[in-house]
Amino acid sequence: AKQLLFKNPNEPPMVFSIFPFIGSTVTYGMDPPTFFRTNREKHGDVFTFILLGKKTTVAVGPAGNDFILNGKLKDVNAEEIYTPLTTPVFGRDVVYDCPNAKLMEQKKFMKIALTTEAFRSYVPIISGEVKNYFKKNPAFKGESGMVNVPKHMAEITIFTASHALQGQNVRNRFDESLASLYHDLDMGFSPINFMLHWAPLPWNRRRDHAQKTIAKIYMDIIKERRAKGDDGTEFDMMKHLMNSTYKDGTPVPDHETAHMLIALLMAGQHSSSSTSSWIMLRLAQNPEICEELYQEQVKNLGADLPDLTYEDLAKLPLNQHVVKETLRLHAPIHSILRAVKSPMPVPGTNYVIPTTHTLLSAPGVSASDPAYFPNPEVWDCHRWEADSPNAPTIVRNDASVEDEEKIDYGYGAVSKGAASPYLPFGAGRHRCIGEQFANLQLQTIIAETVRLFKLSNIDRSRKLVGTDYQSLFSRPLEPAFIRWERRD
Ligand code: HEM
Repeated sequence: AKQLLFKNPNEPPMVFSIFPFIGSTVTYGMDPPTFFRTNREKHGDVFTFILLGKKTTVAVGPAGNDFILNGKLKDVNAEEIYTPLTTPVFGRDVVYDCPNAKLMEQKKFMKIALTTEAFRSYVPIISGEVKNYFKKNPAFKGESGMVNVPKHMAEITIFTASHALQGQNVRNRFDESLASLYHDLDMGFSPINFMLHWAPLPWNRRRDHAQKTIAKIYMDIIKERRAKGDDGTEFDMMKHLMNSTYKDGTPVPDHETAHMLIALLMAGQHSSSSTSSWIMLRLAQNPEICEELYQEQVKNLGADLPDLTYEDLAKLPLNQHVVKETLRLHAPIHSILRAVKSPMPVPGTNYVIPTTHTLLSAPGVSASDPAYFPNPEVWDCHRWEADSPNAPTIVRNDASVEDEEKIDYGYGAVSKGAASPYLPFGAGRHRCIGEQFANLQLQTIIAETVRLFKLSNIDRSRKLVGTDYQSLFSRPLEPAFIRWERRD
């Protein structure tokens, strides 16, 4: 009661709510960006709200991003928060079901398989999958049509990612049993499971069955591959992980390889599929950009539009900027959470965040702040060109570079630059390892799509659907129909 009556002057301002336990859960959950914006206007860059009974402290802006994402191991912890949700889905002993040091090694294994050499082989694989999809899918028969774009982008994402990362063998199984198993596994990846992950509910039973079955399929393939011996023809993530060894000399056990493969597919699937859907919706909203993208390929790759290569992608800056700009306004991960392990003073303030709080980082707030991005609400892929009037005014705050930032964690994701306003892939020790793969995958999907189609809204308007924040990764509200027209 004392706590309720007397506010501790060292704690950040509290968002008011009349509901005990529920607090601001509903207003936050319906529309996190609006919740962050309104409360930032009222309380400043650091404030606390009640999320399902838990005091949750938000710190926004480049300094806030740095404070949370670059937090030290002794101060912040991700696995404690994520594990109830992720462990039943990924399986044991990987990612958040192990100490952070082990995750660092696992990320290093994953990262090594994502090299330039691998990327060169992935572009033709992804191109082939996209072309094949548009050729075979009945929704794209004829000269024009209307499609609910997220449904198709989800399928294209899983076909391209499974083929590139897990090999032809695994990809083929997605035409049959694996697609529906992954669908069941996905049911476990919903925010309600932060609370109900343990409950013997029908969807959790299906989740557990799917996890076991998929892991067994992968482990059987691993066994087969070990028995067959390496003929050197396949280069994929599975081959790399199954032959990796921890620093202490322990070879990665097969169940861990299987579980890492599940984690990689799940992490990539939702974020990339949401992003590619937003890209197609933005192109439909801005048909002139769709045309510019096509002309960019004609100009920079040649009018005969040869088969795409990894090197070609570097010759298509607008194609790259479309991905970058879409992630600025539609980052699929709107909230990143950490448990507080020791009281954390917030630099430049009197606040000390106690261990009873959870920290919430929302880099999307600075990515849509006019202080860094002129006319932030406008989706303008040209803003990433140096002479654009909307070009970002990014200020790097090097004063905040701490010793730990200089550590190279070994997977290339040195945490320098966590004080940036633009961090769709996170920062610090939990930074995304899939950034380059996602970029390559998204850029290839766009390039192949604009070769085949012109896109527009079905009523030719400039409207855009709203965002669905109810699932763990934000995505377009469905149905989200667009119109396609085949190029001559
Ligand atoms: C971590 C975003 C695609 C694998 C993260 C984080 C973000 C993110 C924000 C940090 C989470 C945190 O700090 O709690 C994205 C976006 C993507 C994308 C926007 C696509 C547009 C991928 C892909 C893969 C992947 C394709 C796999 C190939 C991972 C992994 C982590 C991660 C393994 C590390 C988790 C950790 O260390 O805690 N991603 N990601 N991501 N992502 Fe991605």
